[in-house]
Amino acid sequence: MEKRVFGFSRSLEQTTSPVHPETLAHGLFPGGQLAELEARALALEPFIGHTPLHRLVSLSKPGVEVYAKLEWCQLSGSVKARAAFAMIRRAIRHNLFYVEPGAEPRRILDATSGNTGLALAAIGAQLGIPVTLCLPANASNKRKEMLRAFGAQVVLTSPLEGTDGAQEKAREMAVQHPERYVYLDQYNNPANCLAHEEGTALEILRVLEPTHFIAGLGTTGTFNGTARGLRAALPNVTLIALQPDAPMHGLEGWKHLETAVVPGIHDPSLAHQVREVGSRAALTMVRRLAKDEGLLLSPSAGANAAAAAQLAEELALEGQTARIVTIFADDASKYDEMFRELWPAEQPAEQATVPAV
Ligand SMILES: Cc1ncc(COP(=O)(O)O)c(C=O)c1O
Repeated sequence: MEKRVFGFSRSLEQTTSPVHPETLAHGLFPGGQLAELEARALALEPFIGHTPLHRLVSLSKPGVEVYAKLEWCQLSGSVKARAAFAMIRRAIRHNLFYVEPGAEPRRILDATSGNTGLALAAIGAQLGIPVTLCLPANASNKRKEMLRAFGAQVVLTSPLEGTDGAQEKAREMAVQHPERYVYLDQYNNPANCLAHEEGTALEILRVLEPTHFIAGLGTTGTFNGTARGLRAALPNVTLIALQPDAPMHGLEGWKHLETAVVPGIHDPSLAHQVREVGSRAALTMVRRLAKDEGLLLSPSAGANAAAAAQLAEELALEGQTARIVTIFADDASKYDEMFRELWPAEQPAEQATVPAV
């Protein structure tokens, strides 16, 4: 049997037909399992992407408008639905799941700190493909419970090694059992970036022409893909990548690239500038936007907002006219610890103090 573990060399193509020509070209299961899989994937398209581009009134300045893509408005509640869906569709087109007629499909395998796992698990459940995820043991309990609810198998790795350790474990499992797993490898899979180049960027351009795009780096798919798509249409757009300001940080989903394994899909030549954001500044912004905009954000979305607000102030001071676009990867619903820190429960004694009439 041919071993296809790292089989991602060709680019992702968009399709409007129910069964992609590449799928049919395999000829192994015309009209059978593979075509059925592709048709089921197609039915998911309305739930992936198509997110609102929202104007943040409280961060905008005279002449400088700030917008954010509200990426939790899609299946599984985060930006990672785009990358997960694109990687799975690419694997379907390369016929990586059904290696023998009538046999069970190979399992989706990847390393994740959370959101990609949730997206893969939700899409896998929809498509009837089992999912195995390697994630650091210190991922939140809620995250693990949600993954189990979707029926995903979870392999916990050392909390000290973060997502780098989870990646190493997934790679090891893929090499040991190529007959069992399709290793999607979000850190090295070009479909991760292409999902944003052909999706996120085009959705933004349909609404407005940004002068600046500013967003954080995790696997780097969101920044690199969106930046590339925007630059192709607007050669003068300014691209600003964001990083946590320290190796140990609270910006879940982001990577401190100086001290972590740099993803293979990262293109460091794309960004005109790289700026740092601290976890404290991110949480302060989360608290502010809850009150001022009615948006409950995750820490990484708060970090993007903090950096976009800072940029808006700088540009307004210079008297520039600008349209800044950033990304809110997910909302606060999975971050119980952040809630406890930002909005500790009221003291019962205070609640009970009602002025006597
Ligand atoms: C909450 C959150 N923010 C930001 C990112 C970064 O996105 P990307 O991996 O596309 O760089 C992720 C990625 O998992 C994430 O989960």
